[in-house]
Amino acid sequence: MFYLTTAIDYTNGAPHIGHAYEKVLADVIARYRRLRGDEVYFLTGVDQHGQKVQQTAEKEGIHPATFAKKKTKLFLNLWKKLGVQYDGWAETTDDRHKACVQAILSDLKERGELYKKAYKGHYSVRQEQFLTDRDRNEAGEFGPEWGEVVEIEEENWYFRLSAHAEWLKNYVSSNPDFVIPGFRRNELLGALANSAELDLCISRPKERLRWGIEFPFDPDFVTYVWFDALINYISFAGYRAKDDAGLPDFAKLWPDKGPVHIIGKDILVPAHGIYWPCMLHAMGFRDDQMPQILVHGWWNRSGEKMSKSLGNVVDPDELADKFGVDALRYYLVRDIVTGKDADFDLDRLVMLYNQELANELGNLCNRALNMTGRYCAGIVSTGGPANADDHALRDSLKTVTAEYRAAMDAFDIAEALKAINRHVTVCNAYAERNKPWELAKDPAHKGRLDSVLAHLVESLAHCAVLLSPVLPEPAERIAAQLRMDTLMELRLDDLQWGLVPDGHETGKPKPVFPKIVTEEA
Ligand code: ME8
Ligand code: MG
Repeated sequence: MFYLTTAIDYTNGAPHIGHAYEKVLADVIARYRRLRGDEVYFLTGVDQHGQKVQQTAEKEGIHPATFAKKKTKLFLNLWKKLGVQYDGWAETTDDRHKACVQAILSDLKERGELYKKAYKGHYSVRQEQFLTDRDRNEAGEFGPEWGEVVEIEEENWYFRLSAHAEWLKNYVSSNPDFVIPGFRRNELLGALANSAELDLCISRPKERLRWGIEFPFDPDFVTYVWFDALINYISFAGYRAKDDAGLPDFAKLWPDKGPVHIIGKDILVPAHGIYWPCMLHAMGFRDDQMPQILVHGWWNRSGEKMSKSLGNVVDPDELADKFGVDALRYYLVRDIVTGKDADFDLDRLVMLYNQELANELGNLCNRALNMTGRYCAGIVSTGGPANADDHALRDSLKTVTAEYRAAMDAFDIAEALKAINRHVTVCNAYAERNKPWELAKDPAHKGRLDSVLAHLVESLAHCAVLLSPVLPEPAERIAAQLRMDTLMELRLDDLQWGLVPDGHETGKPKPVFPKIVTEEA
């Protein structure tokens, strides 16, 4: 079983392009793994607790639950619009999740992993958080951004994170694939080398934060939002769940190998790279049951971080309406290297869609089906002899399919798309060279005409399958025009030359990728 998760998105605001990227990336990987023949379970969801949600709800004068529900709808609607097809949906206010978090708290307490202690320190009333010396400015003072700073003493529950620090260092050092890509793993190793090995404060007194999961053995406290949120990966996988909870069978989903967690670079250290493996270790998970973390980069704008205050945020919902879901999905995985940052550039979104899809692949689809219809009554004849040019085209497809597979296995979606595009370009050049429109003028060239068109149609069928994880609907539209009902049921290993049988009748071409015309053009 291939179990895949994304981060769960905070419901303190509307979904932004970073959220959309992460979910589309995960959706592409899930669909690809199914194409490879794996059984897949894809979990995503929303993180509904925490101070930010409480504060924003208070500002709007509504209950945090009402507020979180309202924001959750925006995420649900967007994933539907973008074709993000998940198997499990995590909401941290779900009673089944709360029960799981509470069961884990009780279990960890019994194992001696939790303790309560008083902590005295500087506290920012405005930011509602304890400050450390790192929060002081150059003058050694707490700046005005913290508002009133007071010294308070507060009791809280702590998790013995430090007791697992040695184990974690060894684990990360000896498991090069724990965090990918490698340069992100190095960031984690660096953080571990410099860590102070403090325990983790996992509670908040209710006077300070109401909006969280209550400690089962100390109801004056709720859990710190990260302790709650990380557990979604196991609570919604059926960990400690009742049989009738409507959740997956944990032993099946998380047998001996943990899931792949897809997260952004900002939540690797410390949450996913330190807290989470230590929590799992404390719960008794073995080394071979640890998850793998795939860290993606950020979409920026003109080199700057996207933020509401800079006013440079792009709304994925508006973009999907304006440019179409296909262009948006394609751009989100085509113009970024998994792991690195990229610049979100609308001109490039339009350019890449128009050039690579509308012009190149759209052209291949249109000409292959159009000419087969016009010159051969729609009938594909595969029987003729293949010449050197035909063999070169077949070799290109073979190479490109292998390159696509290697790139997708390495989560490098952009490289995989470039591989498909290389073959499409080869096909269009092959068509230009062999000129079926000339061959059609002379019945003596009928055999050659058949062969050329058969090679284009066959290539198109392969490209539709390869493209399907990224663009499932266009792939289906191509399959429908090819009149190949079962094309989308094929697996990667089925992609051998000869998908289109001799005598197969194709349908009429309809534009699969209508060109985007911008106002400036
Ligand atoms: O961190 N580009 O939620 P979140 C790419 N609730 N990815 C981005 C991005 C950008 N500009 N901005 C955000 C949280 N992300 C927690 C997670 S998991 C148990 C709890 C990514 O809504 C970010 O890196 O702030 C993260 O992976 C995801 O969006 C949710 O961010
Ligand atoms: Mg964030």
